[in-house]
Amino acid sequence: MLPPYLQPGPHDFTDGSNFASGGAGALATTNTGTVASFPMQLSYFRNVTKLLQQKLGHLEAKRILRNAVYLISIGGCDYFSFYATNPNATEPQQEEYVAIVIGNLTTVLQGIYNLGGRKIAFQNVGSLGCLPAMRQIFGVTEGCVEGLLSLANLHNTALANVLKELESQLSGFKYSIFNYYDATEDRYLNPATYGFTNGSDGCCGTGPYRGVDCAIEPFELCEDLPEYVWFDGGHSTERANFQYAKLIWSGTPNTTGPYNVQQLFQQV
Ligand SMILES: *[C@@H]1O[C@H](CO)[C@@H](O)[C@H](O)[C@H]1NC(C)=O
Ligand SMILES: *[C@@H]1O[C@H](CO)[C@@H](O)[C@H](O)[C@H]1NC(C)=O
Ligand SMILES: *[C@@H]1O[C@H](CO)[C@@H](O)[C@H](O)[C@H]1NC(C)=O
Ligand SMILES: *[C@@H]1O[C@H](CO)[C@@H](O)[C@H](O)[C@H]1NC(C)=O
Ligand SMILES: *[C@@H]1O[C@H](CO)[C@@H](O)[C@H](O)[C@H]1NC(C)=O
Repeated sequence: MLPPYLQPGPHDFTDGSNFASGGAGALATTNTGTVASFPMQLSYFRNVTKLLQQKLGHLEAKRILRNAVYLISIGGCDYFSFYATNPNATEPQQEEYVAIVIGNLTTVLQGIYNLGGRKIAFQNVGSLGCLPAMRQIFGVTEGCVEGLLSLANLHNTALANVLKELESQLSGFKYSIFNYYDATEDRYLNPATYGFTNGSDGCCGTGPYRGVDCAIEPFELCEDLPEYVWFDGGHSTERANFQYAKLIWSGTPNTTGPYNVQQLFQQV
């Protein structure tokens, strides 16, 4: 387990580092406060590359950065925050916002490349409108929040296009996309196919779908956690995560492609 970059104390970055931050967006303006946005995470990474160079010399640092796989999951929070204030956005307005998110995200990817990173592994954004939290907050009694599904679809199409474009423009750039959207949507629609009985509601929380306030009294907790896809309103259970991890590592091209993460590590 890689320690968080901001954890106090000494770090050995030669095996990697974890810049993840709960609530982070591709936009620096999404969920400000104590969140480290994707651009801020790039600044932290820039510092790590300098430390590696000081410690190991330029050549060895370059080799480590080139061989490393950069795991990224970003974007969902940008759309939660947009949808909360613009639930009735027209398709052109949605497209405009997606272009801003993708534009900023692309800048960070180019930054990683300029610092020596070559192998990028994405989990795309999930079926955001089907999350227990979103169905509950927006009062959906049947199906999912359509506006959020539409944003997620627009984003994922644009993300796939951008990564393909970067691959053709940047020498040595290689990538993986795990189709988290399909994985979460399938488990919502057909939980039994994946060994779950409940793909729609949270195990921990308050309200009709236990979609919010996990661990805030008074809250409910299910008794049969492994039966659930969702632990709370927006985070999957360990059992679902294990399935996703296997797909990220060794999924077939219809789920994870053009490379899976195992293949990305093997690339030279
Ligand atoms: C990067 O390192 C410099 C020098 O140690 C420090 O001043 C700066 O705050 C660091 N930046 C980030 C984003 O951590
Ligand atoms: C969005 O549209 C619905 C239905 O027309 C309306 O009730 C709601 O007030 C609108 N929301 C905003 C933020 O404009
Ligand atoms: C990045 O996001 C800001 C808004 O936060 C926007 O003004 C800017 O145009 C975006 N940059 C790109 C390259 O899309
Ligand atoms: C999922 O769990 C919730 C909360 O316990 C329950 O209300 C709902 O009926 C369950 N759905 C299915 C399909 O089992
Ligand atoms: C993906 O392909 C594998 C075999 O290559 C197959 O077993 C699996 O059912 C396919 N999944 C989907 C969602 O099409």
